[in-house]
Amino acid sequence: MERRYKIAVLPGDGIGPEVIDGAVTVLKSVMMKDPGLKLELLPGKVGEPAYEKWGNPLPEETLELLRASHAVLFGAVGEHATRVVLPMRQRFELFANVRPAYTFEGVPALQKDVDIVIIRENTEDVYKGIGFSIDESTFVALRLFTAKGMERIIRYAFQFARREGRKSVLLAHKAPVIQHTDLPFLELFNRLSREYPDIEAKDMLIDSCAMRVVMMPRVFDVILVSNLMGDILSDVAAGVIGGLGFAPSGNIGEKLAVFEPIHGSAPEFAGKHKVNPIGAILAGRMMLDWLGEKEAASGIHKAVAEVLREGKVRTFDLGGDASTEELAAEIAKKVYPG
Ligand code: IPM
Ligand code: MG
Repeated sequence: MERRYKIAVLPGDGIGPEVIDGAVTVLKSVMMKDPGLKLELLPGKVGEPAYEKWGNPLPEETLELLRASHAVLFGAVGEHATRVVLPMRQRFELFANVRPAYTFEGVPALQKDVDIVIIRENTEDVYKGIGFSIDESTFVALRLFTAKGMERIIRYAFQFARREGRKSVLLAHKAPVIQHTDLPFLELFNRLSREYPDIEAKDMLIDSCAMRVVMMPRVFDVILVSNLMGDILSDVAAGVIGGLGFAPSGNIGEKLAVFEPIHGSAPEFAGKHKVNPIGAILAGRMMLDWLGEKEAASGIHKAVAEVLREGKVRTFDLGGDASTEELAAEIAKKVYPG
């Protein structure tokens, strides 16, 4: 039977188009190996190309496309990031930002055998953009947490752990100090955790957590964290596993999900066709997984792992001189369902 999905493909700007091309090459190869899987890849503009055409980096045309899609594959946006990434997350209530960090054999990294999933709250906190100046020398940014926002991300983390066969969820916070927000977050976490007795609930101070992610990452399983702290912690975790080139993410809502590499638009590399597309390719893998296409997802994962293990085709970050396209093509060649 055919499984059809409408996928909005938003390359964005900077290196976005190059890495998304790589991800699309791999997705097309998955479809060739699995003819029942039909991904309708629908291109859309965000960031600089949309700004050039419509004077708006996130135009109505693109929002319309997103509303009509099952899922979105997104590259990166540089200068216009706060006018694209944040409204997209807020408007579609993409409240869970899932950021796995795992090591691959063949990739030089600070630590081995890491397998952490960071679940970052994605719609609240200082990212709401509420703030003001009291006077010319005093500036305020508000950390906004709501009961609804906290509850849905806490439940998401426990349900995620359950679904993925994980053992624990650890809340990283600063409750003793930031009592107005982090204390109610911790209290609600502790209360709701009783509804998930099969998953161990733990908590840790964010600073200590960040240090341990660097020094002893294997003690972590699922880490739940608020928005800004999660932004920082997920880059720390990516640094531990070999860099942002290997870090995908999924912005998950009730109706829509947007998958993107964690890295930004890296304009200094744009158009050079030398950056590593694996973050975007793994974002495609996460997207298939979210759509329920588990075999295709694991096919991509295995292909990435194999190519990295062999180390024959390497982009410059891996010490080689292969182009973005060559690495993507090599992964595409090795994709097989199952
Ligand atoms: C990320 C990025 C974004 C964020 C920027 C581009 C707004 O750093 O996805 O981690 O701060 O969330
Ligand atoms: Mg970030």
